[in-house]
Amino acid sequence: MQIPIYNPAPQYEALREELEQAAKDVLASGIYILGPNVEAFEQAVAEYLGCRHAVGVNSGTDALVIALVAAGVGHGDEVVTSPFTFFATAEAISLVGAHPRFADIDPATFNLTAETIEAAITDRTTAILPVHVFGQGPDMQAVNAVAKRHDLRVVEDVAQGFGARQGSKGLGALGDLGAHSFYPTKNLAGFGDGGMITTNSAALADHCRKLRVHGSAQRDHHPEIGYNSRLDALQAALLRVKLPHVDTWNQQRRDAAAIYTELLDGVDGVISPVEAPHGTHIYHQYTVRITNGRRDAVKTALQEAGIGCMVYYSVPVHHQPVYKHLHAKCPEAERACGEVLSLPMWPGLPADAQEQVVEALKGALR
Ligand SMILES: Cc1ncc(COP(=O)(O)O)c(C=O)c1O
Repeated sequence: MQIPIYNPAPQYEALREELEQAAKDVLASGIYILGPNVEAFEQAVAEYLGCRHAVGVNSGTDALVIALVAAGVGHGDEVVTSPFTFFATAEAISLVGAHPRFADIDPATFNLTAETIEAAITDRTTAILPVHVFGQGPDMQAVNAVAKRHDLRVVEDVAQGFGARQGSKGLGALGDLGAHSFYPTKNLAGFGDGGMITTNSAALADHCRKLRVHGSAQRDHHPEIGYNSRLDALQAALLRVKLPHVDTWNQQRRDAAAIYTELLDGVDGVISPVEAPHGTHIYHQYTVRITNGRRDAVKTALQEAGIGCMVYYSVPVHHQPVYKHLHAKCPEAERACGEVLSLPMWPGLPADAQEQVVEALKGALR
């Protein structure tokens, strides 16, 4: 049996009628950008995460850019972030005229820590941008304490962590601003691009709302340069149907992760991911380490066996050509890039498929 790394079909099949009705209603409404569906979705997300405001935008990348501008990050500033992430995180920092300052990751969770963040702060640092990579965040209480000590803003990159919680709050409701992505493979997955900014501050939310429509709150008045980054009504309507199910889907991912971890227990040369004690892990990816320099051979063997697997990330962001001049040194991120392998993961991934994945993995290591 061929096993993809991700399969969006079960979610669509389970909600097909509701989704198609919601889409038809939008088509008939004549309101295709922003409007009541976007407003209702924003309110539902804010309530779900436990924060006051949410602002729909047209991608996770734009959510980061707009959140950074609203946070006051600009030309010449430094933003402490992770090099073990999708390029968009650092790109957003550069797009607002600032520079990423790369801190190293914790080898167990792949996340920044309060300590690595603190070590990277300079007198030009104005914000911290932790990335909730693979579905869990760093200890946000500790990150916020560092930010407070140094008078910095915290913008969370929640693209991979929608629905993961720390205490009573969802990720994205813990820093000054959270940037979410609804890209079709994410834990709350849209049917195209989409994003959201979350915050507890009415002033920051207001600023984000202006920035997403060309820096304007009032027709023909543009007190600042902004963006065209409005969320489509169609995406909002479809995501409103899906949002009430995201906890169930995340639990299904957690159950599948527990099965993998049990099947991999004691397998030499494989290190399973761990859930940190400070919050939940919602396994956007189930990412193992393959030690002893065998990762690439294992990946090839799995692919030849028809098993989808991916290396997130093979190159740390500080080694990208555009950031080499910063001469950042993050040995744990560099080591992770040589060892990580993400295995098939989606809500409802059948247990017999997981057994097949693990058998193939063991076979590749023999
Ligand atoms: C960590 C991270 N940040 C930012 C993004 C950008 O989100 P989008 O693709 O919605 O622009 C992504 C994913 O694509 C991501 O994984």
